[in-house]
Amino acid sequence: MFYQIYPRSYACAGSSQGVGDLRGIIDRLDHVVGLGVDAVWLSPVFCSPQVDHGYDVSDYYAIDPIFGTMADFDELLQAAHDRGLRVLLDMVPNHTSDQHAWFTAAVAAGRGARERDWYLFRDGRGADGAVPPTDVLGSFTQTPVWTRVTEPDGTPGQWYFHLFTAEQPDLNWLNPAVLAAFEQIWRFWLDKGVDGFRVDVADHLTKDVDRNDVRFGNDLLTHDADNRTHEVLRALRSTLRGYEHQPTAIGEIWSGGASYSSDDEFPQTFGFPILKAGWDAPALRAAIQEVLADTEPVWVIDNHDTPRSASRLGPARSRALTLLMLGLPGAACLYQGQELGLPNVDDLPDEVLADPVWQRSGGTDRGRDGCRVPLPWSGSQPPFGFCDDEVEPWLPQPPQFAGFTVESQRRDPTSTLELTRRWLGVRKQLVGAGFQWRDEAPDRVHFQRPTDTGTIDVLMNLGDTSIALPPGRILAHSDPKPPDGWLPPDAAVWWEV
Ligand code: NOJ
Repeated sequence: MFYQIYPRSYACAGSSQGVGDLRGIIDRLDHVVGLGVDAVWLSPVFCSPQVDHGYDVSDYYAIDPIFGTMADFDELLQAAHDRGLRVLLDMVPNHTSDQHAWFTAAVAAGRGARERDWYLFRDGRGADGAVPPTDVLGSFTQTPVWTRVTEPDGTPGQWYFHLFTAEQPDLNWLNPAVLAAFEQIWRFWLDKGVDGFRVDVADHLTKDVDRNDVRFGNDLLTHDADNRTHEVLRALRSTLRGYEHQPTAIGEIWSGGASYSSDDEFPQTFGFPILKAGWDAPALRAAIQEVLADTEPVWVIDNHDTPRSASRLGPARSRALTLLMLGLPGAACLYQGQELGLPNVDDLPDEVLADPVWQRSGGTDRGRDGCRVPLPWSGSQPPFGFCDDEVEPWLPQPPQFAGFTVESQRRDPTSTLELTRRWLGVRKQLVGAGFQWRDEAPDRVHFQRPTDTGTIDVLMNLGDTSIALPPGRILAHSDPKPPDGWLPPDAAVWWEV
């Protein structure tokens, strides 16, 4: 069981900028331990200009000062390990920051230099090279995937490829030096005792950037046998071997995860299909089936890139889908705040929006800040214990967060937090359990998990009327009140027979 910490928004111990930090995580580690998860995944804490909040790394060997120091990180790792928690870092191999020394060296070295081959530089089209090499657009901001550099002699020069913002140049993964550099980076953190990595944009590492027959950069990947990303992933996987603490890696792959999961590529990939299936029983069953057929999933319905499910689906459905997800075979991941039933904040004022998507889309896409608002810990007004009272959190918390604080929910046995804690406790009974589908009626998702001692049924009601429950002992329920013989709409339940 994983828990995703988005460090900027988890807890802030020292920053005067209202940004969460590593010491804040150490101070609030008991919350994670109290939930009953096995591991945390930290969104990037490496040195970064923070254009994309850490997904633009300028030094993979150092902690960004806004989050703390390497000593803080070592202390966090130790504190987590002392409490039986594993720690995964967020590795960003598809691109670096444009401030990374590899990139500044590539620009400074000039056209044709070996350093340029670390990235994807091309000459422009037209007599003076002023037209980008292709017309492809980035899927992130729907702006061109090429940016032109000025050559060392001051003339307008080559173009470099970036799937995301211009400040995130893509690396050339066909250059063996890039792979060698990342093998070293992975080993540096694994030698420290880090328990593995969540791997960003994992299926996009190699791509045919010279193609001009697709509209969006994401379509430049080939999912077939010629896809050289497999080679890269096999090499990276081998860096995990030989460590006694058995580190893992989870691929961030939004579609086609199956082709990258195997004994020699990703041990685990995210089970995104259930996030994308919506509130629809046949679509959810198909999504579950698709994932279970091919991969070792880490199920997920919330993360830092997606509007929170408590708003996307509504609070009751979000709790129900979370409980259903926790009943599936494999690992699962909760995103910080999901355990509080925290809503998305959809009415942040324009002037505070910090996601690069907002600016880069010319203000047409409000971006992902709504799911990244700092957590409410205690008290009745902002900053709700997230940081010192005199400090403003980097994104403002709405007054309604008062009803969602950890402190208030710990006092209420019917709160989402207390329900979640119980679900995670019961979930431990599922380790090693089998899986079989039950009734395929259009208003429900129903499966069974045979265990050594009996059978646990998991049922979610997507219809308009209550469903009669067979006799059995209720183990977990998504509504604050346990069902009394009938499962109401928008709820889920586990029972044992
Ligand atoms: C996926 C990450 O989850 C997202 O936050 C980031 O913006 C992109 N990859 C680019 O690194």
